[in-house]
Amino acid sequence: MFYEKVQNSAEFIKSRTKHNPTIGIILGSGLGALVDLIEDKDIIPYKEIPGFPVGSLAGHAGELVLGKLGGQTVICMSGRFHYYEGFTMKEVTYPVFVMKMLGVENLIVTNACGAINKEFKPGDLMIITDYINILGVNPLIGPNDERFGPRFPDMSEAYSKELIAKAETVADNLGIDYKHGVYALFNGPCYETAAEIRAFAAMGADTVGMSTVPETTVANYLGIKVFGLSCITNMATGIATVKHSHEEVLKTANEASEKLCRWVKELIINW
Ligand code: HPA
Repeated sequence: MFYEKVQNSAEFIKSRTKHNPTIGIILGSGLGALVDLIEDKDIIPYKEIPGFPVGSLAGHAGELVLGKLGGQTVICMSGRFHYYEGFTMKEVTYPVFVMKMLGVENLIVTNACGAINKEFKPGDLMIITDYINILGVNPLIGPNDERFGPRFPDMSEAYSKELIAKAETVADNLGIDYKHGVYALFNGPCYETAAEIRAFAAMGADTVGMSTVPETTVANYLGIKVFGLSCITNMATGIATVKHSHEEVLKTANEASEKLCRWVKELIINW
């Protein structure tokens, strides 16, 4: 049974750490530096956790880091699972189920993404205000276990307005610039075609990427509040004047990472 499997993973994690996290953090490509700010760390490689999928993308470490950040207890995924790696949507979102079982009430999700909105530029940070799941696949498809959440979960506030307001105040105080926008999920692993980007623009997307939406959907289902932060690493296909490369994505994300880390830490201090 899925519920017992999640319980089993959570019990294993509890046996390996003294921390009881209330805030979950998922780090996107090139944004892993935040783990360096976590103190009194307990590190658990995914491959040691019973029930956990195991991933391998460059730029993703593949471990859970539990510890203290900004006076709060956090559990941080250094490396996430993607649909394009061949994981099912249930596997992609498995750690969020486990976080819920550990007592997590809030989730911060970050990612690297391409900009469709021409007012954005590489290096910008964007508060995610909403998502579009272009894929049509959903991690909640299948039998529902009411112990986790309702059959038909509401998504009218996929990204918590309260957390967005808090993050805006914090960024304003730090003098960090930000955009707001809608994030569209594309399956990858190829980048989009120019025609796809025009279609997504017509749908109302400001950015496009290959992650975050499944975890956001499941967190909302589980009653976890979500704050989403995107790092624009490139202009999307057809808007960009050069071809995409993963190295360029990582490089730009790394450069923006210091700003993102400062923002997230201060947000947690002011939680
Ligand atoms: N498209 C999809 N995913 C991405 C992009 C992009 O342009 N940039 C970074 N992740």
